[in-house]
Amino acid sequence: MSGKFITFEGPEGCGKSTQTKLLAENLVAQGIKVACTREPGGTATGEAIRNILQHDAAGEPLAGRAELLLFTASRAQLMDQEILPALEHGDWVLCDRFIDSTMAYQGFARGMDIEILDRINDFSINSRKPDLTLLLDLDVESGFQRLERRYSNGEETFDRFEREARDFHFRVRDGYHKLAKREPNRFRIIEADQAIDEVACSVWNTVKEVLL
Ligand SMILES: Nc1ncnc2c1ncn2[C@@H]1O[C@H](COP(=O)(O)OP(=O)(O)O)[C@@H](O)[C@H]1O
Ligand SMILES: [Mg+2]
Repeated sequence: MSGKFITFEGPEGCGKSTQTKLLAENLVAQGIKVACTREPGGTATGEAIRNILQHDAAGEPLAGRAELLLFTASRAQLMDQEILPALEHGDWVLCDRFIDSTMAYQGFARGMDIEILDRINDFSINSRKPDLTLLLDLDVESGFQRLERRYSNGEETFDRFEREARDFHFRVRDGYHKLAKREPNRFRIIEADQAIDEVACSVWNTVKEVLL
């Protein structure tokens, strides 16, 4: 039997990485085998692509279409090498960002054609969509306050997307809401402006209700 495929989406600092880890712990406690991964990245090829995307590692500004195709190339590699084999094996897969990030960032925020993005996304995942997408909803300012706290020790710096203007991030958040309305069966919106354990509790209740 195929495993279940869950993705976490939402604006910067909403808690995707934190909640991916906590949901994995809850699932493992139920005896479920879980693979956790992230986008862009999750494979050696994908992590090399991630470095180009997040930090302009190639030393020149990325063309918008190149950015899109790098994200989707990373995803295709992750899909074939990690996600599809794990699901076929019966494991559950949790992914921190996936196809909806492409729609929110490249589509709604950068303004690329939504229909074209839908087709490229579908191609990159061999048409295997997530069974459940958890949209961690948080207002843009609160997300950035969390990131500023995280970066205040000076060890990490804001990446290429985090440096975009606030307007860009408002369009991202609004785009996510449009995506959730478009596919209400796949999406659940989680109120992320709560303590970490409260968000984890909402996530867990939602996963139990929808998939267990
Ligand atoms: N519910 C929460 N309340 C307060 N801080 C949080 C919460 N969830 C995550 N954080 C902190 O905010 C920062 C961003 O969280 P993270 O999980 O990395 O978000 P994302 O992966 O969505 O960017 C981290 O420093 C994290 O510890
Ligand atoms: Mg993260």
